[in-house]
Amino acid sequence: MSVSQPVFAANWKMHLGPSGTAAFVRDFAARHEPAPDRSVVFFPPSISLTAFRHAAGSRPDLQLGVQDVHQERFGAHTGAISAEMAADAGARWGLAGHSERRREFGDTDALVAAKVKRLYEAGLQPVLCVGETLDERETGRLEEVLSRQVGAVLAALDGDERESLVYAYEPVWAIGTGRTATPADAADAHRFLREEIGRLASPEIGSRAVILYGGSVKPANIAALLAAEGVDGVLVGGASLDPEGFAAICKAGRGAG
Ligand code: PGA
Repeated sequence: MSVSQPVFAANWKMHLGPSGTAAFVRDFAARHEPAPDRSVVFFPPSISLTAFRHAAGSRPDLQLGVQDVHQERFGAHTGAISAEMAADAGARWGLAGHSERRREFGDTDALVAAKVKRLYEAGLQPVLCVGETLDERETGRLEEVLSRQVGAVLAALDGDERESLVYAYEPVWAIGTGRTATPADAADAHRFLREEIGRLASPEIGSRAVILYGGSVKPANIAALLAAEGVDGVLVGGASLDPEGFAAICKAGRGAG
């Protein structure tokens, strides 16, 4: 899948059921014109995927993704959904490794790698989320953590998959806290990730990798973050729940900011 950059991705987490999703899409679509020079992707709760697809019926530029999938294709896994089911519901993207999944649900590096594999097998574009906690950053373990999280997944992928994997660098201490990484912090982490992907896959794959920044992105800081070196887009949580604010974010990088 070719990905237009920059990428503006909305992670709604456990917000907006089917009717809230339909209302959001109507509001957002009226504020955001289709734009081929960027990707706009929404990750609603899985119960709202179908409502999103119906509400966005005439707007294929509003792309759809799933927040989490089970690592198996089907079976006795009460409460879970598979990547194939998400694809059937209209999803084309899938998140894996979000820090909330790692922390609340125990998604390990090995499980994240299995989920990324499954997303590829179902024809979805995975976005691998990585990032360090405050303690890991303050004790000098940023690079060790990013390297481990990326390495576990790249080791499980074949060549084509390695080439197309999309990444989101999300420092855990910046998620939902209002405390954003500075553009310089983001640029440093993205540079390290790119080098690491280059070392583990190939230098070309590292230099071309699409790496998003996530963590308290909002209309007031989007221009500076997007201007940081190596930042190819953003993954937005809280601020993506406001159609007006997210439409403003999705205009960034167009000269007018
Ligand atoms: P936030 O969340 O924008 O609310 O910090 C980002 C994310 O978790 O993807």
